[in-house]
Amino acid sequence: MEEEIESRLVFKEGEQWQAECGPFTTFEKLEHEGASLLIQAVDHWHGESQGLVRCFRFLPNWRIDDLMISYSTPQGGVGPHIDNYDVFIIQGLGKRHWRVGEKSELHEFAAHGALKHCESFAAIIDVELEPGDILYIPCGYPHEGYAIEPSLNYSVGFRAPDQNDLLSSFTDYNIDNNATPERYTDRVMQLRERPGQIETQELRELHRVMLANCQTPEALIPWFGKMISEAKHELDIAPVEPALENEEILQLLEDGAQFIRLGGLRAVYFQQAATSLFINGLHFDCTGFKELGHHLCDQDEIGSEVIDLLHENHGALTLFTELVNNGYWYAE
Ligand code: SIN
Ligand code: CO
Repeated sequence: MEEEIESRLVFKEGEQWQAECGPFTTFEKLEHEGASLLIQAVDHWHGESQGLVRCFRFLPNWRIDDLMISYSTPQGGVGPHIDNYDVFIIQGLGKRHWRVGEKSELHEFAAHGALKHCESFAAIIDVELEPGDILYIPCGYPHEGYAIEPSLNYSVGFRAPDQNDLLSSFTDYNIDNNATPERYTDRVMQLRERPGQIETQELRELHRVMLANCQTPEALIPWFGKMISEAKHELDIAPVEPALENEEILQLLEDGAQFIRLGGLRAVYFQQAATSLFINGLHFDCTGFKELGHHLCDQDEIGSEVIDLLHENHGALTLFTELVNNGYWYAE
């Protein structure tokens, strides 16, 4: 019912698939069989649901996308499709029948403006999920699930960017940040007998210019850190007003406050660049207190264990205060 929440209702009218995007004012469709309501990024808005995402912290932060929750009435489902991410589908309420096919080049088409389907496929997994069961579907495997009973499904999705996504994002970053990009010039220009031909050394030089700013994995760090730490779905950010002072943060910690990372907020660092933190698309320097920086990225909550460190290190305390004032970590 709220503007910021990404939601969809999927149902069939006769043989025709229908999909409507929220916000919704009526849920009358869910009074009938064959309907599903899907809500993206629930972990961004609902504190308790973050517990489900935390269970997947054995995988790196940067791969986590969001928690999607769907409710379906019997026969409800979104139809056969292929996702661009890896997903763990957890069965909550009710039973659901899932079919998963082999990874293959299936024809994809719009069954409706907001619903992409793929052609039918032979199942390599054909199961009935019961409450507590988990089905893992890697990126690219066709699947379809239909509720047997009223069903709740919790899907924890993991980003799997493809080559084109990465290159286009890297190029966008360079357009914004590289004011003097290297340009193609002729190293040697000789009289041409075949002006129609692009010569081998010219193609080589084009190739060199194209790759000039991504010669090493480390050259990707500023772009990738910013890009991967940006939230794909809206965050429920509430900056602190009026802003807290360093001493007030320390006092809160000493009074036993636990600071929780905002649901869906992305915080990462690189093994090769340990003093750089990337949080919500911004770069923060943690030279002199990288233990705190890494702790913030690795843990979902922080509390009394950082008091001594914050007392001893003014830079660390100032950074933490800034992050709290931005609304990135909040005290319960
Ligand atoms: C659903 O939960 O209804 C659909 C999940 C999916 O197949 O991606
Ligand atoms: Co899917």
